[in-house]
Formats: sequence, structure tokens, C-alpha cells
Amino acid sequence: MTESTLATLAAKHAAGEPLVMVTAYDFPSARAAQAAGVDIVLVGDSGAEVVLGHPSTVSVSVTEMLVLTRAVRRGLSTPLLVADLPFGSYEASDEQAVRTAVRFVKQGGADAVKLERGNETSVARARAIVAAGIPVMGHVGLTPQTATALGGNRAQGRSAQDAARIAREALALEAAGCFSLVFEAIPAAVAEELVALVRIPVIGIGAGSATDGQVLVLHDLLGMREGQGARFVERYANLQSEVQSAIAAYAADVRARRYPRPEHCYTIEPEQLAQFRAKLAELEL
Ligand code: KIV
Repeated sequence: MTESTLATLAAKHAAGEPLVMVTAYDFPSARAAQAAGVDIVLVGDSGAEVVLGHPSTVSVSVTEMLVLTRAVRRGLSTPLLVADLPFGSYEASDEQAVRTAVRFVKQGGADAVKLERGNETSVARARAIVAAGIPVMGHVGLTPQTATALGGNRAQGRSAQDAARIAREALALEAAGCFSLVFEAIPAAVAEELVALVRIPVIGIGAGSATDGQVLVLHDLLGMREGQGARFVERYANLQSEVQSAIAAYAADVRARRYPRPEHCYTIEPEQLAQFRAKLAELEL
């Protein structure tokens, strides 16, 4: 697998080759994503929910996201590593945004960062981070960090007015220098129009099949998240029940003294054992 760079991604995009992005949050998932040959690995702030157990992405900290990003970096060499900037780590000022993005590159080993929304603030922050030399991926449509303001985790762009807002945001993020965009939970027909409008690759999640690539949250595609999941989720495995069965089998073996078996045990030469027993006998005296 050749290394993904902004140039190789742009070339695939120009050739009409779909881009594959998946989230990862630790070393083994990064190794698996790389071995599977994905183009981009996102250390999404969805990790707040699926691996850290937060109720939403809002409360995850930069420190927590940096731990996840570093673990993924250790497992990854060929896919592009994009790290999500957590809520509250980039909105206050351009300086704050650049400082946080630099931490993800220097301390986390990220190749690029992603930020949410295409309003005036996020566009300015994207421009500032790009000007500091860090590639930025934009994210429009459903932006979970501000889901409360959007009326919940629901599809966006379902009215002409709201779809036009998303179009303006996508174009503004492109003009700010983003190398790619995520479209989340918008009607397929709206995404199709927008993909034709912007020149940078668009990665979709719940945005239909016309986007230039797709992304799924790893725990959704592996079947490791409880609950129904969003309409766009496709489960490619049911690992949560497999993991649970494996732990239950282990627990049953321990309780029935079936584990460990002789092949799991270390041995000692009979002579050494005899001497050891003699020493124990002396201790008992
Ligand atoms: O945090 C995340 O996993 C994301 C993807 C859904 C794009 O932002």
C-alpha cells in the first residue's frame, strides 16, 4: 500500500476513485485499518462516545483526544491521519485554533485536522490553521458538536433554505483552503448537487453515494455500539456479541477449572522442584 498524501488523495479524486475513510482510536484498530488498505484514518471525536463512554462528543478534552491520536499514530504509516479538533478547542480565536492544531500535529502525530461547521467562525479558523501550514478537513451538515443548536442529531439540509446554507458553508470552507470536506446526514440529492459544486474531495456519511468517498465510525461498522444506530450505518460484523461470548466462555472455563490447561503452564525440572520442596520444609521448621 502506498502512502496517502494530499497529492495521492487528489489524484485518486481526479481519477474518480472512491476514497475510503474510517475512524480509529487505538493501536490495534489503526493496524487493522492500515492492513485493510484504507486511504484516511480519522481519530474522530466520536471516540468520546464509542471508546471513552461520554454521552456525546461535547465533553471530550484535547488531552483525551491526544492520547487516542498518539495511539493511532503508533499503529499507522500509510493512511493519512486526520484528528478531530474537540469542541471548545478552536472556536474562541484563530490563535487558539492554531495552537490546538499544532498540538495535534506535534504531540499527536496527526497529518491533518478536522473541524466542524462552515459558519463565519469555523471558516476563519480553518483559514488560520491552513495558513499555519496544517491541512484542514471541513465538516458540514450534521455537526454533532453543535447538535443541540441544530435541534438534535438529525439530518440537515432537508429544506431548500437549509440546503443552500450548507452549500454556502461548503464553498466557504473550500475557499478557506480545506483539502477535503465531510458531509454528514444530508439528503443524497443535495449532496449530489454540492459535490458537483466544490472541487475538493467530499467524504460522505449519510450523504448518499454521489460523494467522492465514504466514512463510517469503526464501532458502528464492527457492530460494537449499543442501540439502533443512524439510518446510514451498515454493520459489517457483530463484534460486541462475539466479544461478550468470548468473555463468557473464559469465565465459564475459569469457574469450571477448565482453564488453564497443562499447555498454558510453565514447568520446572523435577530435581529443582524436589530441592524447592526441601527448602519449604526447612521454612516450616
Ligand atoms: O467524529 C467522527 O467520527 C466524525 C465522523 C462521523 C466524520 O466526525
